[in-house]
Order: sequence, then structure tokens, then C-alpha cells
Amino acid sequence: MADSLIRVENIVKRFGPFTALNGVNLEVFAGEVHALLGDNGAGKSTLIKTLAGVHEPTSGQIYIEGNPVNFRSPRDATTAGIGTVYQDLALNQLMSVTRNFFMGRELTNIFGTLKMDDMDKVAHDEMVKIGIDISDPSQAVGTMSGGQRQTLAIARAIYFGAKVLILDEPTSALGQKQQMEVLKTIKKVRGYGNIAIILITHNEIHAQLIADRFTFLSLGEVIGEGKAADLHGPDIRRLMAGGAEIANLEQELNAI
Ligand SMILES: Nc1ncnc2c1ncn2[C@@H]1O[C@H](COP(=O)(O)OP(=O)(O)O)[C@@H](O)[C@H]1O
Ligand SMILES: [Mg+2]
Repeated sequence: MADSLIRVENIVKRFGPFTALNGVNLEVFAGEVHALLGDNGAGKSTLIKTLAGVHEPTSGQIYIEGNPVNFRSPRDATTAGIGTVYQDLALNQLMSVTRNFFMGRELTNIFGTLKMDDMDKVAHDEMVKIGIDISDPSQAVGTMSGGQRQTLAIARAIYFGAKVLILDEPTSALGQKQQMEVLKTIKKVRGYGNIAIILITHNEIHAQLIADRFTFLSLGEVIGEGKAADLHGPDIRRLMAGGAEIANLEQELNAI
């Protein structure tokens, strides 16, 4: 099998005396969607912030395409090809699609003047590539649907060089139709074949619909992993609940 795009080996992250990640391993391949699942407090956000250069791991090692990397800042991670789309998307609703697309990385001529036409074209074309035709990229982001905003954030990450695309709960705040729009976008990006996607989700159905592999976190540790084809609904639900048997949870509820 080909080398993984990103490999996380024995990552530990402590906040003072508290251990948020306790020896986590994760490996994600190009052209795959890897679902990262786990209850609140499992350590999902801490793990992706470690991959995104927001947190430095206490110990352990991250490898990109087999090479060890040490991120001291989010910029380091971006340069290494980690594109993170956070839940809040980091978009400015009042600004245009194009200005959001290029925020902080604008194209300018030698006099420092913005090349608006060029930027409009890139923003438009990059979004069309992953399935959304914004006819007017000068329209404010606030006029777009939630699904279109996710797509904008994803297109932007890819255009600026993401090889590992990390999506934090991309469907959680959306209605059904827009959730499907985002899943289609993710599928399209997977189809490129050269990008590894880490999908954080609470939605078991979405994970089953598009993930190739699963990793389950509970209280900072990996409690299960596997290929989608080998995992079935009951396994997934048990592992998402932190490994507790559903029968035990029912018993607990009945005792109240
Ligand atoms: N900056 C921090 N300082 C102290 N504790 C933190 C910090 N960030 C996260 N934690 C703790 O680490 C644990 C895992 O949190 P988090 O990664 O946000 O979980 P998840 O995203 O899976 O819900 C939680 O108990 C949380 O309170
Ligand atoms: Mg979280």
C-alpha cells in the first residue's frame, strides 16, 4: 500500500495535569475519507488542533508523506499542506465570496492594487470545480446557504495547497438538503485522489455514507478503528458511545 499522507504516532497532549490525548495513532491515505468519531470531550478538537499547528503535542510525532514534521504555528501546518475547516468557517459574512476566498492572501499587482478580476475568476472557477456555481463572486457571503459556505471554505483550503483536509463537523449546523450538498462536495474532493480527508462528525449516517475508514476516540484514547466495510451500525453506535454497550446504557436509564 502507498505511504499515508499523514500519520500520527503516539500523540500525547496534556493541559497542565489533565491528559486530553493519551497516545493517539492515526493514519490517513490520499483519496480517502477518514471519519474521526467520539463523544464530547473525547479529544477530537484537541487532536485536529495539534495537526493544525494550534497546539504543540506534549510528545509523539506527526509525519507528512513519511517525513517527520514539527509545527510551531498554524502557518507551519498550512505550509506543510494541512487545511483545516473549523466549525465557524472563519468567513466574514459581510464581505464578498472573492474577498473571503483570498482573505490575507490577495493577488495584487506591483503597485499593491488588488487584482479583483483575476481573483473573482479564481474564486468562481475553484467553486465550480467542486460543484457550486456562484454566478456572482462579488456577492456577500451572508447571502450564501450554509452548504455553499462550507464549500467555499473547502475550495479555499484546497486552492491554497491543502493535501490533508480536516473538516470539523461540517454538516452539524445544516438542514438535510444542505447536508447532502456538503457530503457531495466531500465526495468530489475524495475523487481527486490526491487529498486525504479527516471528517469529524457526530452523525453516524453521514460517516457511513462517505467514510472509508473510522477511528473512534474516547477520553483521549483510540478505542476502535477499522474500514467502513468491516464496521456495522451496532459497532459504530457502541464505539461512538465510548465503548459502552447499548444494553448497559439502557440499564442505566432504567435505573433512574
Ligand atoms: N486548552 C485546554 N485547556 C484545558 N483543557 C482542555 C483544553 N482544550 C480541551 N481541553 C479538555 O480536553 C478534553 C477534550 O476536549 P476536546 O478536544 O475539545 O474534545 P471533543 O472535541 O472531542 O469534544 C476535554 O475534557 C476538554 O475540557
Ligand atoms: Mg470538539
